Order: sequence, then C-alpha cells, then structure tokens
Amino acid sequence: MKKIGVLTGGADCPGLNSVIRAVVRKGIQEGYVITGIKNGWVGLIENDMKILDLRMTSGILDRGGTILGTSRINPMDNPEHIQAIKENYKRNGFDALIAVGGEETLKIALALYKKGLIRVVGVPKSIDNALSGTDYAFGFDTAVNIATQCIDRLHTTAESHHRIMVIEVMGLYTGWIAVEAGIAGGADIILIPEITVNINQVCETLKDRHRRGKNFSIIVISEGTKIDGFPTRHNYDGHGGTEQRRYGNVGEILAKLIEDNTGYETRVSVLGHIQRGGSPTAFDRLLSTRFGVKAVELIKEGKFGKMVSLRDNKIRFVDIEEAVSERKTVDMELVAIAEVFSSTK
Ligand code: F6P
Repeated sequence: MKKIGVLTGGADCPGLNSVIRAVVRKGIQEGYVITGIKNGWVGLIENDMKILDLRMTSGILDRGGTILGTSRINPMDNPEHIQAIKENYKRNGFDALIAVGGEETLKIALALYKKGLIRVVGVPKSIDNALSGTDYAFGFDTAVNIATQCIDRLHTTAESHHRIMVIEVMGLYTGWIAVEAGIAGGADIILIPEITVNINQVCETLKDRHRRGKNFSIIVISEGTKIDGFPTRHNYDGHGGTEQRRYGNVGEILAKLIEDNTGYETRVSVLGHIQRGGSPTAFDRLLSTRFGVKAVELIKEGKFGKMVSLRDNKIRFVDIEEAVSERKTVDMELVAIAEVFSSTK
C-alpha cells in the first residue's frame, strides 16, 4: 500500500488537528496508509512515528494544538540529521510527506525536496499570516478572533478608568493580527512592524483625543514593531539549533514613553500564546479541512514541491518556493482603512 507521512512543525496553532483528521480521512479513502510523524522533523530524525487510523483522529476537529506534537529544530544545520531523515524516509517506504507548518517548516521541506531526499506537499499554517502564495494560512482567523475579543474586554476597563490601554499582539515581522483585530476591535491606534513608530505622533494623537473629550484610548501593537530612536529589546534564542528571533517588551516600552510624554495613566496587556491556544474558529476548521483534502489530492496527482493555498476562496496550489521566497506584509489598503479610524503612523 502507498504511504503518506504527515508532520506538524514550528509554532502550533488552532487547526493543525483538523488538517491531520482531513489527511487521514481522505488518505484512507484514496487507499493510502497515513503515518503520523511525531514532533515535526524530530520524529523523522528519530524514527518516532505511528500509523493513524480513523478512530485515533476522531473527535479532534475542534481541538487546539497538535496530537502529533511539534518542534522548532532545523535539520538542515546538521548533516547527521539530514542523513537520518533520508534513511527513515526510505525505511518507512513513504511515497510522500505532508508538512504542515509555517515559513521555517516549509523552507526545510523545500530544502529536503530539492536535495531529492523527500517528496513533499506543504500546508500553510501561521497565526502571523505571513506566507506568500495564499490569501490565508489557517490559524490566523482564530488568532484575530481571540485578539478582537480581548480588545473588546480591555475597551470597557480602559473607558471606566480613563486610561490608555496598550495591547501587544503576536506578529514578529508582519502586523496582520494587529491590523485586522485592531480594526475589528475599534482600536484608536494600530502599530505594526511594517511602519516604524513616531512616538511624538502617537502622543499627539492621544492628546488630541483628550482635547476632544476622549479620555481613554486603545492602542494595538505587534510584538515586532520598531519605535523610532528606541532600541526594541529582543533576544536570540536557539530552538534546538535554530536561531529564532524573539521579541519582548515593546508594549512596556511604548507605555512608558506615553506616560513620560503625556502623563496619562497607561496599562499594558500582552496577549502572547493565548492567541495560539484553544479551539479553531469555524473558518479555520473549514480552511484546514479543505487544505488537508487538497494535500492528499496533490500527492495522488504526483504534484510535489507544492503548497496548498487559498485564492479567491478556491483551494489551489503554488510552488513552496514561491510561498517562502518573500514574506507577505500587511496590505496597505487595510492600513488606509485603519487610518480612517486611527493613526497607524
Ligand atoms: O510564528 C508564530 C509565532 O506565534 C509568532 O507570532 C511569535 O512571535 C512566535 O511564534 C512565538 O514563538 P514561541 O512559541 O517559540 O514563543
């Protein structure tokens, strides 16, 4: 029987289990044996995997996280890891792998595919929505909904206490969550990595609101946003050999600058991993299910080195190369809409 291996790599997000379930259902229907590889590329290196059946993947559509586990290692840094992947791929008799992940996972999949070591189809996962070649990655919609609910809750307390509320959301290099949740949550100021922040302008906007009788404000800021003239604290933390940029503290830095410059009482909420936890929205369940089914179809058709994608609400596919070649930054039309209600500069 033909064999497909499925792995989930990189940061987790809601919808991973829906993809696994769809791959197993569609795969079994098409006569494949589906093997779940544990903890991303680690499972392929350590030959840690198990055959998935219908029973094992039942009842997981709405469950957050990934039943397979995940990791953030980069096997391309280590020749022994590459060799182990080559051997275990052959030993298990895989016809192809389905790699579910974001930029880092799909770059690794592409590199292994180009070396001729694996045949692979990618499925785009990213709460940051920064992958090119697809309108949406799954996980993003859930993150936006969670962030929006949090903004709504922080809105009422900000208003009662006449405070500035700074809400730091995820988004290292792109501000998709900030801009979409910010607009949906009625934020007064939205700050994103694509546009360096002018602190004077932020303070002037706040003062102007106060002059108009609005003595509270909601600011949404992406974790990777730069404030002009101020070094954003970040550190470089190795995830099993991969240099992974981690930011922190931009919300605190911004709040201090605002208090120093305006005297307005300011509070910070960092939403962090809450945006990645729990049940996927209906949109993400549907999208990840459609992606999982399409991934099996591509393997059946012998189309490898591709990533399933969403274009004009139709499921399509693109070369993985195209998806990872360039980050998809925030659509400036959305920024213009945000500016109607706030200042993103
Ligand atoms: O890439 C997805 C993401 O959630 C980013 O938005 C965030 O900066 C990063 O992962 C956090 O990674 P970790 O889970 O390793 O802290």
